[in-house]
Amino acid sequence: MTKIRAAITGIHAYVPDYILTNEELAAMVDTTDDWIITRTGIRERHILKGKGKGTSDMGAEAVKGLLEKTNTHPDEIDLLICATVTPDMQFPATANIIADKAGIKNAFHFDMNAACSGQIYALTTAAMYIESGLYKKVLFVGADKMSSIVDYTDRTTCVIFGDAGAAILLEPTTEDVGIIDSMHHSDGIGRIHLHQKAGGSVKPASHETVDDREHYIYQEGQAVFKFAVSRMADVSVEMMKKHHIEPEDLAWLVPHQANLRIIEATARRMGLDKDQVMINIQRYGNTTSATIPLCLWEWEDKLRKGDNIILSAFGGGFTWGAIYLKWAYNGKNHK
Ligand code: UT7
Repeated sequence: MTKIRAAITGIHAYVPDYILTNEELAAMVDTTDDWIITRTGIRERHILKGKGKGTSDMGAEAVKGLLEKTNTHPDEIDLLICATVTPDMQFPATANIIADKAGIKNAFHFDMNAACSGQIYALTTAAMYIESGLYKKVLFVGADKMSSIVDYTDRTTCVIFGDAGAAILLEPTTEDVGIIDSMHHSDGIGRIHLHQKAGGSVKPASHETVDDREHYIYQEGQAVFKFAVSRMADVSVEMMKKHHIEPEDLAWLVPHQANLRIIEATARRMGLDKDQVMINIQRYGNTTSATIPLCLWEWEDKLRKGDNIILSAFGGGFTWGAIYLKWAYNGKNHK
């Protein structure tokens, strides 16, 4: 029997208009443009402004643009999976809200939370519903309004994160393209280094948790950095070895955009040149669940059918992993 693979057949993203620059942050906390660029590679990030605006608004804009671009009617969508750590509310799932806002009526929808790796976990899960033969059109949405959980008095985290939403359409193919393999890992011990202290069942919201600023991201940067560098590189190299991919065979590494130094270290371990790595952290910062699709969206016009691509991520949990895929269509500007 011919194997069915899940191919990415379209991608779109939504980035809010407001740009928060390093200079503006330097006026808010004790930091400098030079420190932020040297330690993270980030120059600016986009922030979603407006009362009542949440993660679903960015996700829905990305989905609506994607449906239009791929000439897909909302009724054709079978399933929508949203990866996010900043859901509109504890429940219902943000995926439900995105689907409603985008006019999707015939699908079921759910959220996945694996912090920054949620994007690759969700993409793999979405692909499996296609590979099983169950569904024909599945949407993966990666969206986060990180500004809703960033403490803008904490210089160690507020310089890092930005807001964005992105959506990917997956469809079946029997050609030699699509998602070929995925490797995912988790280690719950990492929760001590990166988490949000209050607002969950262990510590529900109270006056005290608000006074103690416990509804924001807590991160021990150096500890997370060490794990991220080794785990992201290990899993990416393992994927190359398993599929006998030499550095020159790889068109693109699409790494989670958490820190330019982590990206460069991963690329070095994989033996890649700079021009094989998608990097846009300088303009968006770390958008958590949206970083990888945001890169693919920006590079879409340059991609060619058959391009070998590795997606690689690391995030809170800890969670990490990689996906190996062959791109399924020619971009407008491919050479
Ligand atoms: O996406 C999810 C996974 N997350 C990650 O992968 C993030 C991993 N970690 C990192 O990217 C980096 O650890 C950070 C960017 C968060 C921090 O960079 P670092 O090079 O590890 O800095 P550090 O935490 O070791 O801090 C060095 C110094 C400290 O001062 P002292 O103790 O040496 O006097 C910090 O207080 O830099 C200070 N510092 C700052 N200075 C100016 C921390 N943040 C800032 C800041 N501006 N914004």
